[in-house]
Amino acid sequence: MCGIVGYIGNADGVDYVLEGLKELEYRGYDSAGIACINKDQDPFLLKEVGRITNLEKSLKKQKISSSLVIGHTRWATHGKPTKNNSHPHYNNSKTIYVVHNGIIENYLDIKKELIDKGYSFYSETDTEVIPNLIDYYYAKTKDFKKAIKLALGDLRGTYALLIASSLLKDKLYLTRLGSPLVAGFAKDYIVVASDQNVILKHTQKVTYLEDFDLAEISGNKIKIENLKTLKVYDPKIEILDFNLKEDSLNDFPDYMLKEIFDIPETIRLATKGRIDPKKGLVKLGGLDNVMSQLEHIDRIIIVACGTSYYAGMFGEYLIEEISDIPVEVVLASEFKYKKEPISRSTCVIAISQSGETADTIAALEKVKDFGVLKLGIVNVIGSTISRITDAGVYCHAGTEKAVASTKAFVSQVVILTLMSLRLKNVSNKQSKQILKEIENLPSKIEELLSKKNEIKKLSQKYSKYKDFLFIGRGYDYPTALEGALKLKEVSYIHAEGYAAGEMKHGPLAMIDQNFPTVAVIGDEVLYEKTFSNIEEIRARKGPVLLVSSTLNKKTKNMVDDVFYLPKSSNHIGSILAAVFLQLFAYYVSKDLGFNVDRPRNLAKSVTVE
Ligand code: AGP
Repeated sequence: MCGIVGYIGNADGVDYVLEGLKELEYRGYDSAGIACINKDQDPFLLKEVGRITNLEKSLKKQKISSSLVIGHTRWATHGKPTKNNSHPHYNNSKTIYVVHNGIIENYLDIKKELIDKGYSFYSETDTEVIPNLIDYYYAKTKDFKKAIKLALGDLRGTYALLIASSLLKDKLYLTRLGSPLVAGFAKDYIVVASDQNVILKHTQKVTYLEDFDLAEISGNKIKIENLKTLKVYDPKIEILDFNLKEDSLNDFPDYMLKEIFDIPETIRLATKGRIDPKKGLVKLGGLDNVMSQLEHIDRIIIVACGTSYYAGMFGEYLIEEISDIPVEVVLASEFKYKKEPISRSTCVIAISQSGETADTIAALEKVKDFGVLKLGIVNVIGSTISRITDAGVYCHAGTEKAVASTKAFVSQVVILTLMSLRLKNVSNKQSKQILKEIENLPSKIEELLSKKNEIKKLSQKYSKYKDFLFIGRGYDYPTALEGALKLKEVSYIHAEGYAAGEMKHGPLAMIDQNFPTVAVIGDEVLYEKTFSNIEEIRARKGPVLLVSSTLNKKTKNMVDDVFYLPKSSNHIGSILAAVFLQLFAYYVSKDLGFNVDRPRNLAKSVTVE
């Protein structure tokens, strides 16, 4: 979704901001723009619809340089992707420039009031009210910082904002409420962004803004005032002790395929130093400090969205089976509005690849004052969720750039497996067997990936259909749901995931020769039960593609196609099936000629509720 980058220093920051915006491209956007505040010229503004390369090309023609630059990539929420709607936005007299992530919920009321006061508007956005509101208060107070504070006081919603003005040419203001913003201190300049990856290219010295912080940067100094506590404080400098991994495509045509092929290495990294299959024990350093609290937990609520939610469902089955603790999985977007009693012996686990998903953050905010233990299973190190939870476990999946989550899902499920074993903390036959399977999982996935041409052929055979059902029981159920989501996301084909046993309670009505079913049987124990559902589908002429870890000669000819997964036990077959379904969705999308990494209407990091 939207991205923010800013530069203030002595040299030219245009290229830095442009590079930063490129770094944010993978998050999804539809237009981009920059504003430069120059010492002896009028402010410069340039916005372009489409790729950042469009902005770059137009910029080259202008030969602009500036020591105070703000930039933005926009993912449309209010108003279509047009030049006018893209950021930065400015006030009527073109002296105040703003880039904004988030949503101003009461912008229509503010807009009306400003129109009544004589202001006019050129865009359909919520953001445009902000520079005009600051302008209005500045005219009254003649104090720019005060004007910002008064304007912020009128806003309802979420924001990360950079504010630059030709009225104060050497100052950059930043503020946040519910949307991330981080400042990095390089030797001769300060770079600010909505994503720390942008900063890491410049420096490891950073400070994260907290909600209600208003920071004023002047030269290489930053002064922060929290508008809620009214405390003025020096920035708390943190050192990011990790480097960005090289994540180029290498020989892969797209990130989604590359990231699926990253999965074996992802699992090795996620389990490195954490598992001891011989002893059947797990060590998760991130949980050490809260283990005594975890011993008293009698209920777990998992909150997450999309693919992470399906990983959470996997987690529910795992934790209940392995650690005997009751688990509920709730969509983060629903959790916020659910009124339910939550006791202090509850643990809330937030699962998020990006660590920045607004709904998941809101779910954690809701339980902030309940005294419950909050854990995170997060991929992006230093992200908001990793900072607002009490403890957690990183997925170590590396950067995931394709909008469709693949390797992060697998590592989330692997981490949930380890977490279940850690919660039980008992060395027995079951724990040894599961850990042995987890240790062998990377090579089994490599075996599956080596059959990519077979999977490609199957995908090409099925890409002509307009509707799909994905079914499974037990661990295969979240896998089926995730398989359907993956296909929808990247191929725009209607797909639904169902618990196999639910077929005759409704969905069977849709089945005919044009409505194929992908049936998942990763768990041998459930073979016969799920196969009965397959027979019901076959009896209604529905085509069936079976994905199974069980070789069964009798049933082979009773389905249209079958893909055999590498042999495994426990829930491992369902993880292998999930990887098959990721590749299946990938090849269907490619066959239909879509941009698999950047599906229409979607963004990688969903930072608005
Ligand atoms: C996954 O393929 C999707 N793009 C989406 O459902 C995603 O999983 C969801 O938005 C949650 O994101 P998060 O894991 O970063 O919180």
